[in-house]
Amino acid sequence: MTDQEHVMAHRQGPPDTERLEDPPTSRTFLQGLGHVIVTFTSAIFAFLYLFILLICAQITAVGAPRTKRDPNVKLTKAQRALHRNLKYYIELAGFELESHDLWSPDNFQLDVTRIVSPQAVLDNEKTSNLKQRYPVLLLPGLMQHVGAYCSAGPDAMALMLHRAGFDVWLGNTRSSIKVHNRQYSEMSHKTWDWSIENMALTDVPAIIEYIKKHTGAEKIAVVGHSQGTTQTFMCLSKQGRPDVGHSISTFCALAPAVFAGPAIDRWFLKLLRRHRWAYRSMMGDRAFLGIMGALRSITPLKLYTHAAYNMFYYMLSWSDKLWDRHYRNRSFIFTPSVVSSSLMFWWLGKGGFADTRCIFKNPEKNESWFDERFPKVGLFTCGQDNLCDPEPLKRRMATVESHVPYTVFDYPDYAHLDVMWAKDVPERVTAPMGAFIWENLDDKDHWREPVWPTAGSVPPEPAVNPATKEPDYEVVP
Ligand SMILES: *[C@@H]1O[C@H](CO)[C@@H](O)[C@H](O)[C@H]1NC(C)=O
Ligand SMILES: *[C@@H]1O[C@H](CO)[C@@H](O)[C@H](O)[C@H]1NC(C)=O
Repeated sequence: MTDQEHVMAHRQGPPDTERLEDPPTSRTFLQGLGHVIVTFTSAIFAFLYLFILLICAQITAVGAPRTKRDPNVKLTKAQRALHRNLKYYIELAGFELESHDLWSPDNFQLDVTRIVSPQAVLDNEKTSNLKQRYPVLLLPGLMQHVGAYCSAGPDAMALMLHRAGFDVWLGNTRSSIKVHNRQYSEMSHKTWDWSIENMALTDVPAIIEYIKKHTGAEKIAVVGHSQGTTQTFMCLSKQGRPDVGHSISTFCALAPAVFAGPAIDRWFLKLLRRHRWAYRSMMGDRAFLGIMGALRSITPLKLYTHAAYNMFYYMLSWSDKLWDRHYRNRSFIFTPSVVSSSLMFWWLGKGGFADTRCIFKNPEKNESWFDERFPKVGLFTCGQDNLCDPEPLKRRMATVESHVPYTVFDYPDYAHLDVMWAKDVPERVTAPMGAFIWENLDDKDHWREPVWPTAGSVPPEPAVNPATKEPDYEVVP
């Protein structure tokens, strides 16, 4: 079975022959004891680690510069409300969120959704013979959720792309608000035994293949932010699945995460740069900082989003100075998403990204990572990005990767997340990105040409909560 057939087969549920519980383990007594000890030490360490970070973040927040809300802007009650439900914000913008039941070949749920217009609009479009929307897949960064593309107000990137006429697909990989494997329980080590390779070589191709089948498109556009770009670069590399390049028309890499920046040496990240055994006794071998999930479910969202921003400010010294302050709390509802301890070891542990400072091995050797199957790539680089340094990537594209067709969109004033959340992203990032995708389409005749709303024409979010089924939402006190 090819990967694709496998994904499709699993959509109808696992075959009968497959067992839905853990197979009998052949663990020895000592291994069992090891796991118990690691569970214990890591719970204590993770608690202290998070606690100290929270304290530092609160102290730092006291003197931090703050962006003020514009007193002339009045949000409606529905706009001020916080819900840990992406559907709420999509409906607030007047669209609907379509869920798709997709599983990786190794039985992980891939949380894939699509922004669609309401039925009345679709019917209207049918009678006026509008062409099909061109599919664009958005992949979020590490510990981020696709909600990040939808949270920055009525003209957030995903909403704006849909409004312009693209078919927007939101692709969380196996790492999302929860990690769900239908073969193994949440307590099983198998549920947590995955890292970047699984996301890059299994999840990304499965999601792309699914969207192609579903829409009938031969190629789709892929947009990634941070780890979303890492996954795509690894997938398209010669050692990965370079054939996937034939399924992508353009790849837009926002704040590309290929080379490390200086922020990777902050003390709390350096602390984890240990050999596997030491790292495991600090962070365990299941979810990374698993207690965060528990904290998230008991903390009121108002407090949660506030503390999450302070943490973010302290940890990476990124601030909200370029954002629209009114939507800041929304952006922190879905962060951090759940990731495996193994994935974070790959990023931060001994021998990982933080150590070698590049997602590929031996970057100093002048051997190209990609071949001619690599699609057209747009590098949306941030001048103030202290986490992922875009300069060595640009240099490499200009020299070693000579057959990769690339365009650089440079934002000297942006930090790592500003490329999604800054106030001027609609004009400076989303519109040029959409134009870049459109210009590079070979079969423009088949697809709807994007139409960009002129300044000020983005409809405000409706004053009344458009959701008819209120009880769907978790209302936050
Ligand atoms: C979220 O932030 C907005 C703008 O700052 C504010 O009006 C709203 O009350 C906040 N929501 C909650 C639940 O705190
Ligand atoms: C790789 O290429 C760069 C730029 O072309 C050059 O400066 C460097 O010396 C080369 N390194 C090796 C190991 O060939």
